[in-house]
Amino acid sequence: MSNVIILGAQWGDEGKGKVVDLFSERFDIVARYQGGHNAGHTVRIGDRKFVLKLIPSGILRSGKQSVIGNGLVVDPSALLSEIAMLEAAGITVDGSLFISNRAQVVLPTHRMLEKAAETRPGRTAIGTTSRGIGPCYEDKIARRGMRIGDLMDRAVFEPLFDTIVAEHLAAARAAGIHDPFDPEAVRAEIERVAERIRPMVCDTARLLNDAIAAGRRVMFEGAQGTMLDVDHGTYPFVTSSSAAAGGACTGTGVPPTRIHGVIGVAKAYITRVGGGPFPTEALDSWGDQIRNRGNEFGSVTGRPRRCGWFDVPLMRYAAMINGFDSLVITKLDVLDEMEKIPVCVSYRAGGTEVTDMPPTVKGVAALEPVYECLPGWRVSTFGVSSYDDLPPAARDYLQLLARHTGVEVGCISTGPERNQTIVKPASRFARLLT
Ligand code: IMP
Repeated sequence: MSNVIILGAQWGDEGKGKVVDLFSERFDIVARYQGGHNAGHTVRIGDRKFVLKLIPSGILRSGKQSVIGNGLVVDPSALLSEIAMLEAAGITVDGSLFISNRAQVVLPTHRMLEKAAETRPGRTAIGTTSRGIGPCYEDKIARRGMRIGDLMDRAVFEPLFDTIVAEHLAAARAAGIHDPFDPEAVRAEIERVAERIRPMVCDTARLLNDAIAAGRRVMFEGAQGTMLDVDHGTYPFVTSSSAAAGGACTGTGVPPTRIHGVIGVAKAYITRVGGGPFPTEALDSWGDQIRNRGNEFGSVTGRPRRCGWFDVPLMRYAAMINGFDSLVITKLDVLDEMEKIPVCVSYRAGGTEVTDMPPTVKGVAALEPVYECLPGWRVSTFGVSSYDDLPPAARDYLQLLARHTGVEVGCISTGPERNQTIVKPASRFARLLT
């Protein structure tokens, strides 16, 4: 019985929500392992659209369990509004959602600290989602954070809240951030959320490990993407958590020996939101064309996404870090009208080939992509559900990606709906997920 990690292979927004939703049918539990409500996983089911930020996309399938693992940072108000949104849509949350008592709590004062950090003179602005995610992870690592388990005990929560909030406010005010803040109202709101979620809070590492021991299947759902991983991404233009496959173990308490496969999700091109180097960015009208056809605007912040061409060396790097068994290529149909499609097949810098991803911003910014230009197919692939029905040029494009990255393309998404998907028969993907 395979337990599988599904995660973003680029800079996030690869379409993981749809993939997790679709294949969660074959699993018993879907567990998120990192991030917070900075993530935005969009799932379309018929004429209904769901944007999930904290709760795993598996919640949309009845009879499945969804886990918010210890590696997440949870904003109580964001969680409550997501639960309310799901309930209003007729989705059962009670009895399906389980929240780790070891996950961290995001407070409104974390957002103030983030505002201070992003605007401080001399400090690199990351272009974050402004949700307080980074400062909350800072508190976690500095061992002064508040965990969901602390919310469950008033005698622990109240003094901890007062101490943390006093420290945050002093730092924010000193940095010139004077956002209004009513500690009584915030404390009361958090206590209200704590009571609502109390039945969902548990030791999710125990829940997951017991389930695996009993032969139940777990899918681990990554948020953001490999190049936003705090260690392996384009640091410091990254998020503050371990988005790569390794994060699935630390962020859930499930050991590596219980995980059997890793699936990378990548767009047929590439996008990034926020600042940071981006070797294959298309700053011309082609970039605009992709943005408009692909509706490349952030699902959390609405910001226009930066768009560019598929980056093979970046994918080889992501494959090495994550050990991908298979790739899912999403939004193939966005390229339908392109006359020619450039693919970056290698990097050069200063006249020599660069084979390893440089560790610094300066090094990544200096990369010169070497493109191979493929002919476009210029017919619609929208909604195609069989590999053989793809136009030959689209198949050539996918084959080139697989050949150059060294990872099979086991699944292709040709539209937002569940049935607008191709699974390659006899692929590793089919073996792991179906
Ligand atoms: P943070 O996660 O809010 O700290 O933002 C850090 C960086 O990660 C910024 O460049 C964000 O735009 C980016 N980021 C965070 N979450 C996502 C996501 O779900 N998709 C794409 N980019 C994201």
